[in-house]
Amino acid sequence: MTLVRFQHIMSDEIARRSFISRPPEPPAEVLLSDPFQSLYVGTTKIFHVPFTWSFLNLTNPHIAVVGITGSGKSFFVKSLIIRASYVWGTNAVIIDWAGEYKAWVKQSGGTIVSLAKGDYINIMDLSGMKPLDRVKQIMNSFDILTDIALYPEQRRLTEEAMEQSYVNSGFELAERYPTEKQAPTLADVISLLEEKLQEGTYEYPAELENTIYRLRQFAREGEDYFARRSTLDLAKLTESGLVDVDLSGLPDERFRGLAALVILQTLKERMRSEGWSETKGLKVMVVLDEAWKVASDEKSDAIMIVREGRKYNFGLIVASQNPTDINEAIFSNVGTTFMLRIKFEKFLNYLQGSLNFSNFIRMEIGKFGVGQAAVEMAFQTALRFPETFLLEKIHGEEPLYVYTIELSDVLTQSELSANIIQRDYQFEKDELKNRLIEYNVGADSINQVFAELDGRNRSIKMLDFIQLIKANGVQVNNIVGFLKGLSIEDQLITRIISSTGVETV
Ligand SMILES: Nc1ncnc2c1ncn2[C@@H]1O[C@H](COP(=O)(O)OP(=O)(O)OP(=O)(O)O)[C@@H](O)[C@H]1O
Ligand SMILES: [Mg+2]
Repeated sequence: MTLVRFQHIMSDEIARRSFISRPPEPPAEVLLSDPFQSLYVGTTKIFHVPFTWSFLNLTNPHIAVVGITGSGKSFFVKSLIIRASYVWGTNAVIIDWAGEYKAWVKQSGGTIVSLAKGDYINIMDLSGMKPLDRVKQIMNSFDILTDIALYPEQRRLTEEAMEQSYVNSGFELAERYPTEKQAPTLADVISLLEEKLQEGTYEYPAELENTIYRLRQFAREGEDYFARRSTLDLAKLTESGLVDVDLSGLPDERFRGLAALVILQTLKERMRSEGWSETKGLKVMVVLDEAWKVASDEKSDAIMIVREGRKYNFGLIVASQNPTDINEAIFSNVGTTFMLRIKFEKFLNYLQGSLNFSNFIRMEIGKFGVGQAAVEMAFQTALRFPETFLLEKIHGEEPLYVYTIELSDVLTQSELSANIIQRDYQFEKDELKNRLIEYNVGADSINQVFAELDGRNRSIKMLDFIQLIKANGVQVNNIVGFLKGLSIEDQLITRIISSTGVETV
């Protein structure tokens, strides 16, 4: 007992002393910026001060987010994107590795670009670059994603053939070209190499064959996502509101990596050519969540962007469960790092080594609940307060979930084509809940119904819905009441009830 009390007094004493020399959180004027020029994140742990994020005093607008699965990384990223769109009209481009953001983007009225489903990117498009520079970038991507660097002859052959195909298509290698001018494709490059092989004069035919084989991997029928003319204008992504580039359907990590790198390179060129505009906010936020080598390889554009700091008016957000997948150069150069819950000592060592926070912060990070975080900010000027502080909770935007009941299974073909009867009903979650409460559905049943609906991606056919609420104890007269409440005509109600086999009273 005495020992405990003694320790208690000791730690109190230490806390007070360190408080005098150094406050535990940055001062309120730093935490709370002009609400028209900053994004609300949550409240701090010690003084419960609202924290709003702004990059005006930071070295750059780029952000790293780390934390174990389920700690709240994506939730935080989504909230930040939404608020940036309110405050600054910021566009967002999500490079969606696992298709994790797709449903949310769809719900939020954004655009989804699915590379595996009919959209193509020609990796040789110039977007304002010189062909020479573009070839260097493509080779850099191949270096990151494949082992071509180990085969200098194959590398050289590839580079040369790319340059040659630009020349053959009428480009000057050292000129800049507008987006409209049609660039050659990887298919053209392969043809050139094949011709060379046919000629039979090249002295290392095996090298040539291997070079062709390498490139063909990205140009196979059905997997030629990067070897055809583009169906997308990548540069336009930066001005299209909320865009999800879904990479989850691509065959493997190399394809996803290539897409991510090409997108980053194009956005970077676009921003570089426009220069830092006088707007105070961010024009675009680009999200890279769990992006494999794209965030870890020294040569990646993600690292270049973060290193080059604030000259582009976009903020790159790099998120990962595994901090060691994020290159140290990213942690030491981003303006802000959000650390959510992290368990492994190895990861904590890596972060503490890169960011230099105290053991106290380290211990707290290991104990966080969902949505709690430590924030580290790199200010432009030297400061007398700690750069790392704790957030009690990230306050996110509650997602607006929309539930759909479809009538396609109860309407006849002619009703469907006549287009005079409403085909589906959409409800916001609370609205549907209230309607069910109104018809005496108990809380447990409501939870069951929503669990089932969520499992079906929040969309259900009418007859299945009726079966579902009936199975959860809703009486027939209440089902009828619910349907009447939707202004469905009596005749159709009768049809619905009788086709579900629900006994009428
Ligand atoms: N700050 C928060 N407040 C309330 N709920 C939250 C918060 N953060 C996360 N959640 C909820 O916790 C769950 C997990 O969050 P999220 O998907 O963001 O985790 P994650 O870190 O991205 O995980 P993963 O690495 O698996 O992608 C979600 O259902 C989300 O709605
Ligand atoms: Mg996530």
